[in-house]
Amino acid sequence: MNVLITGGAGFIGANLVRYLLERGEDRIVNLDLLTYAGNLENLAGLEEHPRYRFVRGDVGDRQLLRDLFRTHAIDAVIHLAAESHVDRSLDAPRTFLETNVLGTEALLGAAREADVARFVQVSTDEVYGSLGSRGKFDESSPVAPNSPYAASKAAADLICRAYHRTYGFPVIITRCSNNYGPYQFPEKLIPLMITNALEEKPLPIYGDGQNVRDWLFVTDHCAALELVLRQGQPGEIYNIGGNNELMNLDLVRLLLLELGRSEDLITFVPDRPGHDRRYAIDAGKIRRELGWRPAHRFADGLRETVRWYLENRSWWEKIRSGSYRDYYAQHYGPGGRYGARDPEPPA
Ligand code: NAD
Ligand code: DAU
Repeated sequence: MNVLITGGAGFIGANLVRYLLERGEDRIVNLDLLTYAGNLENLAGLEEHPRYRFVRGDVGDRQLLRDLFRTHAIDAVIHLAAESHVDRSLDAPRTFLETNVLGTEALLGAAREADVARFVQVSTDEVYGSLGSRGKFDESSPVAPNSPYAASKAAADLICRAYHRTYGFPVIITRCSNNYGPYQFPEKLIPLMITNALEEKPLPIYGDGQNVRDWLFVTDHCAALELVLRQGQPGEIYNIGGNNELMNLDLVRLLLLELGRSEDLITFVPDRPGHDRRYAIDAGKIRRELGWRPAHRFADGLRETVRWYLENRSWWEKIRSGSYRDYYAQHYGPGGRYGARDPEPPA
């Protein structure tokens, strides 16, 4: 197939491009705007690959999309391009609506016009909102997003649903839990904590650190996306998760253990506004219907991830010394949202 991957220069997208090129015979076109989160170094070595093309552009650019679908005779789309960081969505929701909602609609329109056979919308468990201490989200859980990021992804999912119901367009939605692994931008919890610890900087834990996330190694997500692309039922939603719930504080302690650094680096900072307490995914449907299983045990995935950041210091040092440095200072520095520090969790 000729597969269009959007957002392929980001964390999951770059892992997916590599995964599909290694495994299959598909020709891959990667459409990415190269925002602050997109990085061609994530795709180093693929420049001359005979089955790979990179196109720089916006998923909201309808003319570009029309040309691209025609020129590359695209058969299927896996749509990952998005603004993806919750904290940034608290400051600038509009960009999230432009890319995640309007961009998705533009892409759907062009893909429909080009009559593609499959469109996989890569969504998130965050559309379901927050859980109490028990239970898991399944595909019939109500959509109840809490952050502007989550709301923008939920809106995009609803447009996808409408395209299927109204036009019979073959959209499939996936909703995955928190990914971790190589090439993750150091604004997200795991790479932020690893890189701060390596630089002996404080590790900022939001609130009491008891919020729970369900962690999945990124290539296990890629494997699920490939299965959905080839065997998923149009119009269906598939949850994807690691069955691997951890409190943030416990996760950071595990990282420090792996890195051989002191827990004294842990610092409690004010909580994220609207912070979802717990996510947990019931991935029974994709297991039963498509035979998907995560291949990585968490301990192994975490070790591999830590090793990758140790071995690829120049990759993240470049990011942390560029414009991301200003973002970090604004948010985590004095006067920033997470600027007030405490060695103890809030009472
Ligand atoms: P990321 O921020 O690392 O990458 C996003 C990519 O999209 C970047 O390369 C960026 O340049 C590109 N992009 C942004 N705006 C664009 C635009 N207008 N046009 C074209 N390209 C654009 O994100 P990620 O963590 O790799 O997430 C990828 C997708 O997976 C997102 O849709 C996200 O909602 C979803 N998701 C992420 C996770 C996670 O844990 N990271 C979990 C579930 C779902
Ligand atoms: O659940 C899937 C989602 O996971 C994806 O849809 C998002 O794109 C992705 O960014 C991620 O969202 P989270 O908000 O869960 O990820 P983040 O890494 O920002 O935060 C994970 C947890 O760690 C969350 O409870 C907030 C907390 N945290 C995060 C940062 C950056 C901290 O305590 N301190 C921090 O500095």
